[in-house]
Amino acid sequence: MNAQTPAPVAAAKGIFINNAWRPAASGRTVPVYAPADGKVFAEIAAGTAPDVDAAVKAARAAVEEGAWGRLSATERGRLLVKLGIAIADHAEELALLEARDTGKPMKQARADMVAAARYFEFYGGAADKLHGETIPFLNGYFVATERERFGVTGHIIPWNYPAQMFGRTIGPALAVGNATVIKPAEDACLTPLRIAELAAGVGFPEGAINIVPGLGEEAGAALSAHRDIDFIAFTGSPEVGVLIQTAAARNHIGCTLELGGKSPHVLFGDTDLDVAIPVIVNTVVQNAGQTCSAGSRLLVERGAYEEVVARVAERFSKLRAGTPEMDLDLGPVINAKQKERVEGFFARAQEKGVPVLAQGSIAEGVPEGGFYVTPRIYGPVPRANELATQEVFGPVLSMLPFDDEADAVALANGTDFGLMAGVWSRDGSRAMRVARKVKAGQVYVNAYGAGGGIELPFGGMKKSGHGREKGFEALYEFSTLKTMIIKHD
Ligand code: NAI
Ligand code: MG
Repeated sequence: MNAQTPAPVAAAKGIFINNAWRPAASGRTVPVYAPADGKVFAEIAAGTAPDVDAAVKAARAAVEEGAWGRLSATERGRLLVKLGIAIADHAEELALLEARDTGKPMKQARADMVAAARYFEFYGGAADKLHGETIPFLNGYFVATERERFGVTGHIIPWNYPAQMFGRTIGPALAVGNATVIKPAEDACLTPLRIAELAAGVGFPEGAINIVPGLGEEAGAALSAHRDIDFIAFTGSPEVGVLIQTAAARNHIGCTLELGGKSPHVLFGDTDLDVAIPVIVNTVVQNAGQTCSAGSRLLVERGAYEEVVARVAERFSKLRAGTPEMDLDLGPVINAKQKERVEGFFARAQEKGVPVLAQGSIAEGVPEGGFYVTPRIYGPVPRANELATQEVFGPVLSMLPFDDEADAVALANGTDFGLMAGVWSRDGSRAMRVARKVKAGQVYVNAYGAGGGIELPFGGMKKSGHGREKGFEALYEFSTLKTMIIKHD
């Protein structure tokens, strides 16, 4: 199979419950568009409340009475590692599917499969290393804590990195022994469906992984409101985050919310620009800017501003968007609505007279009807302008000068978000001071890792959400704590 051949669409098989496919109760399907040409190339089942209910029941049975619930931590870990290996073995097939579904360049899709496999490998290794504590108490007592699975966890994931997000959210949930119900995004969910099949193939017992594809307001809303889930993890828009948290509140269950950002690079004049600029540009162009942790604001010490503008502009003007097979700097955005959203920011910036510093191009020969947008840099962006405060979720970099360290920190913290930040300086003390003052769940110094970083706890401060995914922390998030107090005298 070459890159031009449509990847096989295993996904049209329906809803995945108890390791088997079934059609949606509604009998309806949702068309799947290829962002590269805007054409329908597959369909997924339109799951609704009855399908979600069946999936939750299967998960509950798996964890309470089924083979899944009886496995030891080591056995669960072994299955997760096997799934990681299966993903690696099917990486090219999965990457083709992902690229077709999301429009991303093949090199990005391939990198995503490496990361997806790593999630299962990492959490497989971690499964039997989640220790409790003993606590000194009154004489005659022995006290110990134990991390305990919740039971059934719900997971609603977005379309930007379907395979990675799938691994990121179910890896830790399964490692601690939960059974999972996943509502992937209607805009891109073919790789999670295929990975679920691989999971059955490596021996995951029935009911451990159940997937109900469908529309957010149907399948997603039904999952978040279901009375028999014990926890829900959500990544997506702030608006839907409110709905998820409200549904969780009605159910008295916990949730993690990862709601994106407007993450800053804080760049001081003494930075090694040869190192910094390529990294910075990539952090907002990668995945066509549709990355929650995209470095979408570049804050530059005033004295260096003009030089940095020149260097960034030079790079941006060479960027090209194309099909996955062209494998250029970026692909199209996910759908017509997202293209409209990004171009809406362009139109309003023009109205307000925010200068465009440079723009890339759309490669010749891309299919008409694809959802391509031109990557752009704006600057200096007025501090109150939406390009300085709002998430675009597109290949758009906003540049703003700052005066001194205090101003840099104020500007970095001057949005509602707090997901990630980069600090660039050769002065280690200064970089450290700024890094500690920036409100963000992850702060990089002289580096920046949009996406990836399986081992590194990740999540928001402020309105970027709450809870931590990735790394060992996620095991705490997807489990609860039992304290046992034993009187022996
Ligand atoms: P969205 O928040 O609607 O979609 C994310 C997931 O939530 C999807 O699986 C969707 O089906 C589900 N969903 C939608 N409505 C729901 C509901 N009422 N109940 C339960 N689940 C529901 O995001 P959308 O509309 O795809 O993108 C809009 C904007 O959101 C983007 O432009 C971007 O700014 C932001 N976004 C941020 C992401 C991140 O990684 N933090 C990922 C995706 C979108
Ligand atoms: Mg939406």
